[in-house]
Amino acid sequence: MNGQVAEDTFGNGAMAILKDIEHVQIVACGTSYHAGMVARYWLESMAGVSCNVEIASEFRYRKSFVHANSLLVTISQSGETADTLAALRLSKELGYRGSLTICNVATSSMVRESDLAYMTRAGAEIGVASTKAFTTQLVGLLMLVLAIGQHRGLSEPHRTAIVNGLQALPAKLEEALLLSDEIEALAPEFADKFHSLFLGRGSQYPIAMEGALKLKEISYIHAEAYAAGELKHGPLALIDADMPVIVVAPNDELLEKLKSNVEEVRARGGIMYVFADKNAHFKSDATMRVINVSHCDELIAPIVYTIPLQLLSYFVALIKGTDVDQPRNLAKSVTVE
Ligand code: AGP
Repeated sequence: MNGQVAEDTFGNGAMAILKDIEHVQIVACGTSYHAGMVARYWLESMAGVSCNVEIASEFRYRKSFVHANSLLVTISQSGETADTLAALRLSKELGYRGSLTICNVATSSMVRESDLAYMTRAGAEIGVASTKAFTTQLVGLLMLVLAIGQHRGLSEPHRTAIVNGLQALPAKLEEALLLSDEIEALAPEFADKFHSLFLGRGSQYPIAMEGALKLKEISYIHAEAYAAGELKHGPLALIDADMPVIVVAPNDELLEKLKSNVEEVRARGGIMYVFADKNAHFKSDATMRVINVSHCDELIAPIVYTIPLQLLSYFVALIKGTDVDQPRNLAKSVTVE
């Protein structure tokens, strides 16, 4: 892989559209929306385009501004989610330069109705909770950064970082899966809790949101996610020893800021579980349990840190005896509003 995206990666004629793109509007629901939120950090910092991300059920019912040369990107595991599909259909009347869907089902409505498509090829995802679809969506979105960026001055260091990051990813995900036993051992500490708080900063903020969604979805524990810098603006009031605080802490440029937020939680008697790069130098103590995640490049950290959070939800759900594959009240594909 040399960083040049193959002509047909996003479908026939994709480059004719992608070379014109100056703005990206991402529309999705649930986990797929969280993938879009990560992509906003990537697209704006590397590909030289502005990017908005919106929940499909909001986007479809409001009058939105369409930027010049804008690409409408839908992200969907199923390709059939009613609100996302409606947003795609609506976009055709709104003057977008084109539409792209990032999807796991080749025969889906979204793939058929979009100008361009990127297939995540995660394999059939049976469980209601989206897992491998999410990580493969993120890979597809990095490919989109390369594809748009190659027409908009993506820097060589960024191109190299993306290529190297993608090549390193399988090994890093294997290493993250090795945390399984450690995470299983701490899961009992969550099983009797009713509330939890997930914290992250930068591109890890959406990963905190995704971790919270997974925990609530399969273990039925109320989980909220906040950008850690927002703590002082309200959520600090919730902190007590009965609400575990999960912190996503790779060794990135926001680490020192995040450490200040950790101290804010500690000072209020919070109990923390910190998923941290070992070079971030967090130490376990009476109020903080540190789970060391093997070092990885900042760029792929959102994908790598997703794995331990998924494992946490899984093991907590097993202890609680909930149906991990088919949680109550939920459907795999939300084809009605
Ligand atoms: C994820 O675990 C959920 N089951 C849900 O949020 C899902 O991501 C959402 O319904 C969107 O589905 P889609 O990706 O098939 O469009």
